[in-house]
Amino acid sequence: MKKIYTLICVLAFTLVACEKEQKPTNELETKVSDLLSKMTLDEKIGQLNLRGTSSRVKGKLPDSLKQAVRDGKIGAFLNVTNTEYVDELQRIAVEESPNKIPLIFARDVIHGYKTIFPIPLGMAASWDTQVAKNSSRVAAVEASSFGIRWTFAPMLDIARDSRWGRIAESPGEDPFLASTLTKAYVEGFQGDSLNDPTSMIACAKHFIGYGAAIGGRDYNTAIISDAQLHNIYLPPFKSAVQAGSQTFMTSFNEMNGIPASGDRRMLTEVLREDFGFDGFVVSDWDSVKEMIPHGYAEDLKHAAELSLNAGLNMEMTSKAFEKHTKELLKEGRITEDQINSLVADILRVKLRMGLFEKPYRVDKSDNLYADAHLQMAKEAAIKSSVLLKNDNNVLPLTAGKKIAVIGPLADKPREQLGTWTFDGDGKYTKTPINAFQNNNVNYNFVEGLSYSRDKSTKDFSKAIAAAKQSDVIVFIGGEEAILSGEAHSRANINLPGAQEELIKELAKTGKPIVLVIMAGRPITVTNILDDVDAILMTWHPGTMGGPAIHDMIFGIAEPSGRLPVTWPKVAGQLPLFYNHKNTGRPVIPEEFVQMDSIPIGAWQSSLGNTSHYLDIGYLPQYPFGYGLSYTTFAYSNQTLSSNTISENNDITVKVTVKNTGAREGNEIVQLYVQDVVGRITRPVRELKGYQKVTIKPNEEKELTFTLSLEDLKYYDNNEEYGVEKGDFKVWIGQNAAAGLTTKFRYE
Ligand code: NOJ
Repeated sequence: MKKIYTLICVLAFTLVACEKEQKPTNELETKVSDLLSKMTLDEKIGQLNLRGTSSRVKGKLPDSLKQAVRDGKIGAFLNVTNTEYVDELQRIAVEESPNKIPLIFARDVIHGYKTIFPIPLGMAASWDTQVAKNSSRVAAVEASSFGIRWTFAPMLDIARDSRWGRIAESPGEDPFLASTLTKAYVEGFQGDSLNDPTSMIACAKHFIGYGAAIGGRDYNTAIISDAQLHNIYLPPFKSAVQAGSQTFMTSFNEMNGIPASGDRRMLTEVLREDFGFDGFVVSDWDSVKEMIPHGYAEDLKHAAELSLNAGLNMEMTSKAFEKHTKELLKEGRITEDQINSLVADILRVKLRMGLFEKPYRVDKSDNLYADAHLQMAKEAAIKSSVLLKNDNNVLPLTAGKKIAVIGPLADKPREQLGTWTFDGDGKYTKTPINAFQNNNVNYNFVEGLSYSRDKSTKDFSKAIAAAKQSDVIVFIGGEEAILSGEAHSRANINLPGAQEELIKELAKTGKPIVLVIMAGRPITVTNILDDVDAILMTWHPGTMGGPAIHDMIFGIAEPSGRLPVTWPKVAGQLPLFYNHKNTGRPVIPEEFVQMDSIPIGAWQSSLGNTSHYLDIGYLPQYPFGYGLSYTTFAYSNQTLSSNTISENNDITVKVTVKNTGAREGNEIVQLYVQDVVGRITRPVRELKGYQKVTIKPNEEKELTFTLSLEDLKYYDNNEEYGVEKGDFKVWIGQNAAAGLTTKFRYE
C-alpha cells in the first residue's frame, strides 16, 4: 500500500514538474552533469562544505578563507554579513576558482531581516497566509540586498510543549495550520522566480522531530511512532516540498535512536523517494560531529560515512566531509556516484537561483525599513495578537483615559523583537511608549521593574503611586527575548521576576488592569488571572509592536489572532495539545474533583479523575484556536450536503456566523473532524479547515467548507495510508473546544 502510494506521489510529482518545466528541467540536468564532469574530487567535496562564521565576529577576511574559495573548497557561507566580504568572496569564487561555481550566502533570517515581524509562533496565531507570505517576502527583499540568498527558515517543528524555548520559532501544535503557513512562507521567501535577485531560497527545518524533545529540553531525544511521524510531524515538511522549498535542514535530535543527520530512511526514503524532493539538505550546526556524543558514530570519519550514506548533501561548520570523504571513497565505504549525486543536488539549486549568470547581490538597501515593510509588520503584529481575556469590555480603552503604563517591556526596543533578530536594529523599533508619545496619549510611564527577570521591589511604590492617579493600568510585561529560542527552555513558564508580585500590588489599587504580554511562548497566568481585567498576548511583536499595541488598545484595530498552541494553566500539564486521543476513560471535565475537596482519609477510588490532575484538572487555560474579539459571534445552521462521504462524493459543510456585537469584527472559523473508530485510535479532534472572515454588526455570513475522503486519510504504524468506513463527527466553531456538531458516515 505504502509503495503504491509512493509511486503515485512520485509519478504525480514528476508529471506536474515535467508539464511545468519540461525543457528547462532537461537543460538544467545537462548543465549539472557538464559541470560535474569537469570538477575534481576536491571541488566536489568543496561544494558539500558550508563554512560558518559567528555572527559576532568582525574583522578582516582571513587570507586562508579566500584561498579556500579560490581552490573551490567551500560551497556556501553562513553569517557573512559584511557586504564587502560577500562581494569579495563571490568575486573570487566566480573569477578565480577552477570551475567558477558561485557561492551561496546563508543567514538565519527567521522573522524579518531589518524590519522584524512577530516571532513565528505569533505569525502562526494570525492564521493568515497572506500575512505570512508578506513577512517572508519583505525579509527576502531586505536580506538579499546584503547578498543573503538562502535563509534557514521556515522552521516547521510541530511543538506541543511550551517549556521548549524554540516553540517561539515554531508554527505551533497543529499540522494542518502549519502546512498552510509553510506554503506561504516558502512562496514569500523564494518569490515568483528563484533567479530573481530578491529571491531567497527557503530551508525547511528541522528534519525531523526536533519539537518532540522530551520534557521540552532542547536538543533532547524524540520518540515518535510512525503514525505520529506521518500524521503530526511530517505534513508541514511535505507541504514545503510541494511549495518548492529548495533546501531542508536536519535536526540536532535523534528520533527513535537515530540522529537526524544520519537518518537514511528519513533523508532518502521519505524526503526524496516519497516526497520527491530534489533540492539539497544541509546539516544543522555541527550536527554531523554531534553524532559522536549521541553515541551513534565512533569518530568524525564514521560520522561522515553515516551522513553521506544517509543522503546529507552539505555539512554546516563541522568538517567531517572535508576531512574524511576521500578516505571513505578509497576504502569503498561510499561511492563516487553517491558523491556526484549529492553535489548535483547543490549545483541544481545554484543553477536554478541564476547565480552563474548573476552572482552578485543587487543593492536595494533603500528598501530597508521601507514604509510598506513597516506597515506590513504592523498589520502582522495586529493580526497575530490574541485577546485572551476582556472582562467588562475593558478593552478597547476610550480615548482620553488617564493611563498608568507600567512594566518591564513597555519601552524595550530590542526585547520586543524576540529571538533570532541579529540584524534588526533596535533604533528603528517602535515601542508602546514611542507610540503612546506619538499619539498624544494621556499616560504616565513608571517601569516598576527594569527587566523581565527583575526581582527588586524598590520601584514598586512609584508604580503604585502612578497607578493610583490613573483611570486604568496598562501593564506591559512578559519575557525578554533571551528567555525563549534555542537552548532557552524553562521549567516554570510564569511571568518571570517579580512581575506577578507587582501586578498583585497594583490590583490592590482597584484600578482596572490590562496585561499586555510580550513573550516567546504561552505564559501561565493562573496566579494573576483574577487580578487583571484584560490580557492581550502579542508574542514578541517585532519592529512595529508599539504602534500595533497602541491601535489595539484604543480600538483603532482589533487583535484578531487565535492561539496556535494550547495555553496551559501550569507547566505541569505539559505536553498539552488539543488533538490528543480519547483513552479508554475519556475525560469528563465536569467530573473533576479538586484534591482539596477530597475528604481526609478517603477510601481509594478514582473519583472520576481520569485525565485530570488532582490539583489543576484537565482543561487548559485556553484551548487551541481560542481568541476573543471586540465583538461577539454566534454560530448556527450547521448543515451537511450529505450524510455520507465516498470516493467520488465530497461533502460540504455549511455554517452561518453572525456578528452579534456592535462593531465590525474578524473571526477565524475553524472546522474540526473526529474519526470515531479507526484501525488505530484517532485524535478527539483534528483541524481540517479554517476561514477568516470580517463581519459587520448584525450581518450574517454563510460559510462553506468541503471535505473529501482525502482529508480523512491517515497513516498507521505500518505506514499504510487510508481511511476505513465508519462514523465521523464534524464541528465548526471558534476553537478546538467549541462548535456545533454534525455527523456523517463513510460508506
Ligand atoms: C542552529 C539552529 O538549530 C538552526 O536552526 C540554525 O539555522 C543554525 N544554528 C545556524 O545558525
